[in-house]
Amino acid sequence: MRGVADEETTMDARIANITDGELIIVLDFGGQYNQLIARRVRDHHVYCEILPYTVSLEEIKAKKPRGIILTGGPESVYLDESPRMGKELFELGIPVLGLCYGMQLMAHQLGGKVECADVGEYGRTAMQLKTDSVLYKGAASKDLTVWMSHRDSLTAVPEGFEVTASTGDCPIAGMEHVERGLYGLQFHPEVMHTEHGFEMLKNFVYEVCGCTGTWQMDSFVDAQIDHIRKMVGDGRVLLALSGGVDSAVCAAMIAKAIGKQLTCIFVDHGLMRQNEGDQVEQIFGSDEFGLVFKRINAEDRFLAKLKGVSDPEKKRKIIGEEFIRVFEEEAKAIGQVDFLAQGTIYADVVESGVGSSAVIKSHHNVGGLPEHVDFKALLEPLRDLFKDEVRRVGLELGLPEYLVFRQPFPGPGLGVRVIGALTKEKLDTLRAADAIFRQELEDAGLNKTIGQYFAVITEGRTVGVVGDQRTYNYTLALRAVETQDFMTATWSRIPYEVLDRCSSRIINEVRGIGRVVYDITSKPPATIEWE
Ligand code: XMP
Repeated sequence: MRGVADEETTMDARIANITDGELIIVLDFGGQYNQLIARRVRDHHVYCEILPYTVSLEEIKAKKPRGIILTGGPESVYLDESPRMGKELFELGIPVLGLCYGMQLMAHQLGGKVECADVGEYGRTAMQLKTDSVLYKGAASKDLTVWMSHRDSLTAVPEGFEVTASTGDCPIAGMEHVERGLYGLQFHPEVMHTEHGFEMLKNFVYEVCGCTGTWQMDSFVDAQIDHIRKMVGDGRVLLALSGGVDSAVCAAMIAKAIGKQLTCIFVDHGLMRQNEGDQVEQIFGSDEFGLVFKRINAEDRFLAKLKGVSDPEKKRKIIGEEFIRVFEEEAKAIGQVDFLAQGTIYADVVESGVGSSAVIKSHHNVGGLPEHVDFKALLEPLRDLFKDEVRRVGLELGLPEYLVFRQPFPGPGLGVRVIGALTKEKLDTLRAADAIFRQELEDAGLNKTIGQYFAVITEGRTVGVVGDQRTYNYTLALRAVETQDFMTATWSRIPYEVLDRCSSRIINEVRGIGRVVYDITSKPPATIEWE
């Protein structure tokens, strides 16, 4: 990749700096809970990194992990093409915990037997503990409810292993070989429905791997600031600020490290929510962060490019490209910079998926990396963090809560919430209605449970009567969804009286809206956004 200097070295150096030597590696075999495993380990203050199962043993050894966790996965270990690591992994002298597919793989590689069972187990399952395994330390009872998701089962453990738990349909639900530091669980301790699950992971990390829990957010922030100072020296850094959480936290952190050596360009494309642009300016344009802040009001330019365009994909493309063009023009005016900063977070890195090594994903919401900006290297200080950790860092750095806990907002902004062609008038109408909807939900305290909520202005005109006058105005749709990961979502059961208040206020206070409807479609089949 152009301009990226020795990414691997800097990454390893950074991790060593952050982890204080306590690292747990999660080897990803394609299971759906992989990120959750890493989160749980970090919750116990031990740094944890997810790597694809294709990583070499040398790479693993070089990172000097205290322990390794093998994830679940959708395949069957006994098939030739199924993902696996060589059995040398189990000879490294590093403790290994296999979960679901991970346990089956351990058994298969070491001479046990895994077969397709007549009956699978899915969801909450009653399990009995058979031993006082250190993993189960602290369990209130020998009878636990655990979360299962498997069809294949172990029918024989490898030589020297002991069975530690059973269920009615799965006689080998846990196994271990204490002297070799090898442990397996057929269920998912990382899922909240598993009783005592978080403690089992803690027991592995603390009791088996000997970690003491030195990973703390404030020490992470200090270490990163120190690292940025050393890396940047007296160089200059450029960042495109979008107003979203990731780029804002990224800006705050770099600014704390190097102040005026950081220039933030905030391209206001005119597709933000009400007052959002001004809020960004208020925070980053103030003296508090001491960076160089440039707001570019490019609304007219974007609207001119988008005039008459109604195809959603075309709109997205135009907005993304125009964003990069504006950013490049401004960057050119600044001249040569040494680093281009990006708010890439861990989810963006691991999204590259099983089997592919971590690549730098061009994270900026609305486009790729600019092609015509000269820089020597990328700076991505949030690259190792999950979203909620990014938020914690944001608070630690003194960013206001309303910014840190902002709900996700698509890169193309309101451009994909105005159905059909964009006009300034429709955007302003949408902004006003959206602000009322959001305020009412927040006043009702519903923003804590609803993952994303917003308004969409449709192309549908509708007849109404206001006073004695016939009106012919737009239909506005309200959308509110509950979701964990934004991959699936259910529509939120907002109380009628709250919906009623939203509808009355919008019709009374916003000109141009004649009818308000509530979207009761989940994802799938619908997506969260309308376009
Ligand atoms: P969908 O509509 O695909 O949205 O169910 C899932 C999540 O992604 C957000 N989203 C986008 N984010 N650029 C983005 O950065 C986009 O073009 C985009 N489209 C949707 C959406 O708001 C939701 O959080």
